Amino acid sequence: MGPQAAHAKITSEMTLSEKADAIEEHMMHELDKIVTKSVFANMTDGRVDMEGGAALQKKYPGKYFNMGPDPRLPPMPDKPTLLDYFKNRFASTNHLLQSGALAIKNGHSEKVVLACLLHDIAVVGFIRCDHGYWGAQMIAPYVDEEVSEAIRMHQALRFFPDESMGYKYPDMYLKYFGPDYKPEPYIVEEYKRARDSKYYETSRLICVNDIYAFDPNAKVNLDQFEDVIGRNFRQPKEGLGWDHSPSAHMWRTIMWPTRFL
Ligand SMILES: [Fe+2]
Ligand SMILES: [Fe+2]
Repeated sequence: MGPQAAHAKITSEMTLSEKADAIEEHMMHELDKIVTKSVFANMTDGRVDMEGGAALQKKYPGKYFNMGPDPRLPPMPDKPTLLDYFKNRFASTNHLLQSGALAIKNGHSEKVVLACLLHDIAVVGFIRCDHGYWGAQMIAPYVDEEVSEAIRMHQALRFFPDESMGYKYPDMYLKYFGPDYKPEPYIVEEYKRARDSKYYETSRLICVNDIYAFDPNAKVNLDQFEDVIGRNFRQPKEGLGWDHSPSAHMWRTIMWPTRFL
């Protein structure tokens, strides 16, 4: 057993999380580069923590830090498109595809279809918390304001019924958050602002076409949205992430989430 394997020795006295860390460390030794975890990733594991560069290089001697793609993730092409993110970075796309397909079935405009198709890209590619805001920022440079604003506002609207548009508070939310959950004041205020927005209806249609009863077996093909995306999503010629738009860094971070700096 070499000195590196000794690092990852798993013993019966270890706690589960120590074992998980040891396995992770063992996997890290297999890589050519030192791949680091961001503070944010650690916080989602319940701890405010980061390992410093010097300590890490000591742990993985003779290696440099990863400054590009993470070798563990599916490779991305040099000039990635939105579809490449769908295929290689979004953890689950069924919900989005089903919502987009329902919007088509209900005869909505291409902007509404695109808004439904992209409404939760932040959830599936990045982060759950405040996903409407993150998702809207990611796409704002590339779509009509109607689409990004509608996605931003669905963050708040989905918690409030509007019977006139056929939207009631989702049963799934009762099940997920309990009967006592009340939207926080910032959500309530955002809801009031959204009601006065010229994009209120589009945003409400995201909620109406949001599939709350997820069908894990439904298969909707991404191909059927290629034309809608082509006409309504301004794909940058440099590739999504390399185009210097105000949100290019967000796409790059999703493409290369373990870049050291
Ligand atoms: Fe959502
Ligand atoms: Fe959704």
